Amino acid sequence: MIGIIGAMEMEIEGLRAKLENPQSETISGIRFDWGTINQVPCTLAVCGPGKINAAVCAQTMILRFHPQLLINSGVAGGIGKDVHINDVVIANAVVQHDVDTSPLGDPVGLISGLNIIEIPADKTAADVLTKKAQQVYKGNVFHGIIATGDQFMADRAKIAAIAEQFHAMACEMEGGSIGQVCYMNQIPFAVLRTISDNGNDEAVEDFPKFAREAADRSIELLATALPALAQAL
Ligand code: ADE
Repeated sequence: MIGIIGAMEMEIEGLRAKLENPQSETISGIRFDWGTINQVPCTLAVCGPGKINAAVCAQTMILRFHPQLLINSGVAGGIGKDVHINDVVIANAVVQHDVDTSPLGDPVGLISGLNIIEIPADKTAADVLTKKAQQVYKGNVFHGIIATGDQFMADRAKIAAIAEQFHAMACEMEGGSIGQVCYMNQIPFAVLRTISDNGNDEAVEDFPKFAREAADRSIELLATALPALAQAL
């Protein structure tokens, strides 16, 4: 079974519509829908925005549904001049840009307990998603670091700092948290995001304009890639 988590309803509803033989259960206020998509058994959930919502959802999904692979799909802010609205970014690793024990001598982003900054995504799943995206889209498909924090980024200087510190290509609010939960449970994970804005001063206008189209792009790509992802498990 493949688990799929999105933060917002628009990031999951198109997948839910594709579920065959759907069943559902609500745990801790989070609705989990399961069935098959393109013959692949899947469980879907909308976690709500932010790291704690995402962590509760991911841990619950793991304990209740035992996914062999957990995928976080949705939209993100693009980082850097080359990453544009509607481009696709697939994580090779995730970081949490708002974790900071540097006053105690640690590097910014070091996750206490795990003692790492970058949490590696599953290479096979990332490669399958990247290959499929390159087949399906004419636009750019990037494979790089995705930075997570509990803020909607809408400030050029803050984005520049994240770019410099973490060499990230996209920012969002859940992937790093889901990655940490998967790492702690030894479950492979992937993060697939389509760019809805650039985390800069225009992000507040761009996000509502482009999020729906970007979310649909991630959904379509994921649905197309599911059989290949299942085969690679
Ligand atoms: N998701 C989409 N755009 C984002 C942004 N600018 N900051 C955080 N999460 C996002």
